[in-house]
Amino acid sequence: MRSIEEKLYNSSMKIILQNQAESGAYIACPNFKRYRYSWFRDGAFIAYSMDLWGNHQSSRRFHNWAARVIETREGIIERAIRKVESNFPLNENEIIHTRYTVDGEEGKEQWENFQLDGLGTWLWALKNHLLLSETEPSASFIKASRLAGDYLQALWRLPCYDLWEEFPHKIHTYTLASIYAGLESEAFLNSTDRIRCIEQIKEFIYTNSIIDGHFVKHVQSSEVDSSLLGLAVPYSVFPPEDSLIKNTVLLIEEKLVSGNGVHRYSEDSYYGGGLWILLTGWLGWYYVQVGNTERANRLKRWMEKQSDSGGQLPEQIPQFLNRPSCYQYWVEKCGPVAKPLLWAHAKYLILLNVLSGKE
Ligand code: BGC
Repeated sequence: MRSIEEKLYNSSMKIILQNQAESGAYIACPNFKRYRYSWFRDGAFIAYSMDLWGNHQSSRRFHNWAARVIETREGIIERAIRKVESNFPLNENEIIHTRYTVDGEEGKEQWENFQLDGLGTWLWALKNHLLLSETEPSASFIKASRLAGDYLQALWRLPCYDLWEEFPHKIHTYTLASIYAGLESEAFLNSTDRIRCIEQIKEFIYTNSIIDGHFVKHVQSSEVDSSLLGLAVPYSVFPPEDSLIKNTVLLIEEKLVSGNGVHRYSEDSYYGGGLWILLTGWLGWYYVQVGNTERANRLKRWMEKQSDSGGQLPEQIPQFLNRPSCYQYWVEKCGPVAKPLLWAHAKYLILLNVLSGKE
């Protein structure tokens, strides 16, 4: 490894492990009050990065935590499924939250809790954990994954907050992709029959999430969002060489990449809408899959340049802001941009791993 790689590899590992609680939960960011929780989404990618680098124990502890959170909410899940099947709306207390305290409790403050992608990503990461660690699922994994699968199968058509915790009244292409992968993973683990539902989700994406030969952020939008990369990598709803995916990546490059940093979407105004480290890692991950390691390496070097002297990566870099006037508003409201963000470190570790050909 080059020295900068080695330094960022070591600090990323250290930051992730130091911020894994006794319970197994990963704290999204220790220095940002709103992020002192554990998210299914962030945690799933972090656990996957640990599995890729051989730290199966850390990943297993996270998955044990997540499975416990889900299992202890069996009643909520069953009730939610019954209500949705009878066309009743769900309220805040009748859903699985997007983030929990490290002890597995619901947060007290108001939060955009109804998000479905995190559970899909968790199922995908759990399957990969078992494959990469060559271990059998525990009874708790079997029970929790089945509950999560049933929940997603019943709820996938409902509008919910997206992975950026916004637009609650829309149906998001990324969310559908993660549910698709989650259900496929759960079917693989438990031999559950999810085929019909998986096909319906893909059909829905074909019918509602494509405009002018590319995928769109959500149904009834014409915008792209960098998270659309997830359709190919890692969720494999479509192969990375599919022309629809290629057209989407071209648009992401054209509209959302500045220098080698990646915006979430063009109207993003959170901290002014800067460049997200984890998305640069994600784009690099995609390029490795299509064999363009030169571009992937350039993106990796950009990530490395954003780390501070202590080897920490922030959530975003306030450059090429979409809405410069909104930056200060967020700094005053919540303090400086979150750093270190564990999920950003995980995406660096994933990119480093796939570039080394170890995946
Ligand atoms: C992001 C989410 C992320 C959370 C914790 C939010 O600002 O939009 O995607 O899960 O932070 O990192």
